[in-house]
Amino acid sequence: MTIDPSRFEALYGRRPEVRVSAPGRVNLIGEHTDYNEGFVLPTVIPQRTHVALAPRDDRQVRVVSGQVGGDAPFEYRLGGERPRHDWTDYVQGVTRVLAGEGFAIAGADLLVESTVPVGSGLSSSAALLVATARAFREAHALPLGDVALARLAQRAETDFVGAPVGIMDQMVCSLASDREALFLDARTLDYRLITLPPEVELVVINSGVAHQHSSGDYRTRRAECERAAAALGVAALRDLGADDVPRAMALPEPLGRRARHVVTEDDRVLEAVAAIERGDLVELGRLFYASHVSMRDDYEVSVPEIDLLVELARSEPGVHGARLTGGGFGGSVVILARPGEGRRVAGRVKSAYDRQSGRAATVLVPEP
Ligand code: GLA
Repeated sequence: MTIDPSRFEALYGRRPEVRVSAPGRVNLIGEHTDYNEGFVLPTVIPQRTHVALAPRDDRQVRVVSGQVGGDAPFEYRLGGERPRHDWTDYVQGVTRVLAGEGFAIAGADLLVESTVPVGSGLSSSAALLVATARAFREAHALPLGDVALARLAQRAETDFVGAPVGIMDQMVCSLASDREALFLDARTLDYRLITLPPEVELVVINSGVAHQHSSGDYRTRRAECERAAAALGVAALRDLGADDVPRAMALPEPLGRRARHVVTEDDRVLEAVAAIERGDLVELGRLFYASHVSMRDDYEVSVPEIDLLVELARSEPGVHGARLTGGGFGGSVVILARPGEGRRVAGRVKSAYDRQSGRAATVLVPEP
């Protein structure tokens, strides 16, 4: 899907001058480690958010989404951004932060089209933020590199939208292309793009249970990690190693288990990178399962539907590993299928899940 310029013209009476997009993401491993200043390894999915833009010579912004809200544009003035607690906050957040950081932008007419499902744990928010920021960057030739753009998108989400997220999603949406995983140190923002070998065959299935990161649970987990780090005398849980786990486990419940997840998950990211680089898919699959168990039991961010998807995947001979991906409390699973097995695994897991859960899963990868 791309944006049809005639649709833009029908809305605004002129053609768009800029057409950009940004992908959704699936995290391979390294969950809830980014705001603990640790490691992550996400990659991008084929679903994307597209933004078309025509600059205006006043300070008015008009924006239409092809997916929600009909044809009547939402309108605001630059400087007059006010959260409405819907998708328009991501657009408003970007213009607010751009202007706040001294970038000279004018008003604009915008059309957004997206195939990244909302609430699926696949970063529809980061895709919209990054695509919107790219549109303004291109329209005004802003001197904004891809890392700076990702940081700006994150600030729009934390400061304007009010979701206390880490930097993983915006970084991968801004930096990675198809079949590239981003190995990121969330403390220093040092990163390496790793080309995924063709044997890494991913399946991504949305459970149909929607989550929201501005809501309480994500915030609670962050606060628990901060309390655990403070009690253990470190700046962030990233500073702990396996040797510190017994000390962490002596903290009041559930702080020890939260810390143990972060420490073991950071190690799993490093092991996963090594496994990919030596082509050891069996080991990568084992790490997926171990990550899932840790998220389910120690970090407690899974839900029964997600556990069911992982268990169904585990019972498939064509699968190396599976885990909850993204923030949790619903969303999607990522499955590492044996080469050539992805489409069949996806179909079988989906139909068993639909039958047993009474919900309808959606297969995002491989694309239908
Ligand atoms: C959400 C946040 C990320 C990260 C993940 C959990 O996707 O946006 O920053 O914390 O949850 O790994």
